[in-house]
Amino acid sequence: MEHPIHGLTVRGVTKDFHRTKRTHQAENPRFYQRLPQLFKREKETIRAVDNISLEVGIGEIYGILGANGSGKSTLIRCISTLLLPDAGDIHVFGDDVVKESLKVRQVMNRVSVEASFFKRLSSAENLIYAARLYGISAETAEKRARAILERLGFKAKRMNEEMENLSRGMQQKVAIARALLTSPMLLLLDEPTTGLDPKSKRDVQTFIEDIRSERNAVIVLTTHDMAEAERLCDRIAIIDKGRFIAEGTVKELIAQVPSQNGAPATLEEVFIALTGKEIGDEED
Ligand SMILES: Nc1ncnc2c1ncn2[C@@H]1O[C@H](COP(=O)(O)OP(=O)(O)OP(=O)(O)O)[C@@H](O)[C@H]1O
Ligand SMILES: [Mg+2]
Repeated sequence: MEHPIHGLTVRGVTKDFHRTKRTHQAENPRFYQRLPQLFKREKETIRAVDNISLEVGIGEIYGILGANGSGKSTLIRCISTLLLPDAGDIHVFGDDVVKESLKVRQVMNRVSVEASFFKRLSSAENLIYAARLYGISAETAEKRARAILERLGFKAKRMNEEMENLSRGMQQKVAIARALLTSPMLLLLDEPTTGLDPKSKRDVQTFIEDIRSERNAVIVLTTHDMAEAERLCDRIAIIDKGRFIAEGTVKELIAQVPSQNGAPATLEEVFIALTGKEIGDEED
């Protein structure tokens, strides 16, 4: 075999987006004033992911910590076969995600904040529908979904309510349940707790810890939340403008930054020292 089998191997992945550059326009220009710009659109290339490599072993939770727009979701989408990388390669349990995308899709699942559902159907119906696509019977799906949702602190009696009546946090829990119905070997969690209240956040974090101890899965998690990264991740990469600028255990990352007033730096101080910004700042 050409590649030794790791859970997930990403080598030199780069992803560019091309978009039309917005030139400064007068407010409410008349159509004929905008015409020249329509014909002279300047293209701009954004390197969302820049030569990223990483390896995640089975049973490990790997965290990607970065500000808004730093490239986390783009990298996750490349791993999950939703986007084609412009350079580099990605292997999941030894299989190339581009050449063997169908095989890879069967062993992985992704949870993201923009998860889509049939809004007029209930969460139970949505989960059963998703499970059927993987050949799981409605009965098994409902049983599993109920068990997972209960552990996430989702009230079972609300399982039959239309999705559109559920709060965003509750919908997020349904998205997590959906990703876990199929027992994926690779779980991609793109900001699984963003926007959740403190109790829901803890429920989801505890659940992620439980998955790690119960299954031999590979888990990749993106977050803005330092405490979450510290609590859950075996190793953390800090991403800035599409590049990994540091990687290691929390302890290793903290050792990269001199201690402040005798006390060791916090992960937040490490982030600020390495990226020159607070995690709440957006990329420019
Ligand atoms: N489909 C797209 N077309 C054009 N540009 C994109 C597209 N998706 C992402 N980008 C750009 O790529 C960069 C990285 O975006 P990405 O969504 O990966 O960041 P992120 O770290 O996930 O941010 P957030 O924390 O806000 O979710 C940004 O500059 C973004 O505007
Ligand atoms: Mg994102």
